[in-house]
Amino acid sequence: MRIYDIILKKRYGGELTDEEISFFVTSASNGDIEDYQITALLMAICFNGMTERETATLTMCMAHSGDTVDLSSIKGYTVDKHSTGGVGDKTTLIVAPIVAALGGKVAKMSGRGLGHTGGTVDKLESIEGFQTTLSGADFLSQVNSIGLSVIGQSGDLAPADKKLYALRNDTATVDSIPLIASSIMSKKLAAGSKGIVLDVKTGSGAFMKSVEESEALAKAMVSIGKSAGRDTVAVITNMDIPLGNAVGNSLEVIEAAEALKGNGCEDLTAVCIELASNMLTLVTGKDKDTCVSMARGAIADGSALGKFKEMVEAQGGNPEWIENTDLFPRAEHSFEIKAEYDGYIKSMDAEKIGITSLLLGAGRNKKSDVLDFSAGIILNAKTGDKVEKGGVIATLYANDSDKFADACQKFSEAVTFCDTPVKKQPLIYATVK
Ligand code: URA
Repeated sequence: MRIYDIILKKRYGGELTDEEISFFVTSASNGDIEDYQITALLMAICFNGMTERETATLTMCMAHSGDTVDLSSIKGYTVDKHSTGGVGDKTTLIVAPIVAALGGKVAKMSGRGLGHTGGTVDKLESIEGFQTTLSGADFLSQVNSIGLSVIGQSGDLAPADKKLYALRNDTATVDSIPLIASSIMSKKLAAGSKGIVLDVKTGSGAFMKSVEESEALAKAMVSIGKSAGRDTVAVITNMDIPLGNAVGNSLEVIEAAEALKGNGCEDLTAVCIELASNMLTLVTGKDKDTCVSMARGAIADGSALGKFKEMVEAQGGNPEWIENTDLFPRAEHSFEIKAEYDGYIKSMDAEKIGITSLLLGAGRNKKSDVLDFSAGIILNAKTGDKVEKGGVIATLYANDSDKFADACQKFSEAVTFCDTPVKKQPLIYATVK
């Protein structure tokens, strides 16, 4: 078999066989084909797409290109959740404890932030002492004893995806639905859970800017999950506006702790209940409305907050910080951004808000950048809110006050105003099963 023929076939819109896809993934992982040949095929896939079968085969080949996590020693139903990435997205910190408090087993590997989006691992590491690296045995044992553990990606999970993703990033071949779907699902399948709930973000802060594209991505991922024997559901949620009011690592953990105490803002709580209840339908087999009540109940009776504290303690952090969030160190400097008009916020570009937070020190431009955990933004107003001239719409936080000038400039590019009331956007667009 020759990679040349495979590239040629896809270039003319042909359907690749399982053997051809397997040959491509193996050769790419082993270094038996050149990077320019890999990217030529990736570009041909971008132009000509892949069928459901081709996408499923590509995913399975990448999932099996390295380690796979064996969760069979965990007693109970294992359920994972994945977000396609957003700004202010601290849902894992709320949803995982809710589901664990109600009997689901959440053995979750999360990522770090890159670019304008945050990462759960960075957020958790803002809790002093919290360990996001555990041995495989400790990870499994913690999930068996308390029902949840969230760690960074360990081992050599889906290395073929790592190789392809790096090349896609540099060759304008990221935004292809079969390539995104196979990339995400290869890692989810390798991570081992029986149930998978996908939070597919849509809007200015998301990979997929339109609901139609997001729905197509959701369908592709659900189809892959099902064909691999996993119970898979996708929820399409709004990422045109940041989720919740906090953006930045410790600020988001504080907001998540408040949400678990029942003090969460409306949009954050609604998305978390939607995700948690979908996970609970898989875990319990009960209907969605019942699972919504169960999820709300776990916040109201304190059991979800208790689970979060148990996880923090089990992974070396101080659970007192979750009970009393005043214990988190605060940034030395803050800067208030005030409205320049009387009127309404017409739009708030989530990607630009994410970049504002990055410029304050909360995110990375490159992998080796060191984070300022207490840097970030608290939003006092969001799209649709009425504002008065001189009223504070956001406060920026940083330990290095030199960062405010660029950050303020970026924030001002993110927000537009108008004189007339603005229609609120939906938070949840669709569920794909
Ligand atoms: N996230 C991934 O893991 N892969 C993609 O291709 C896009 C987003």
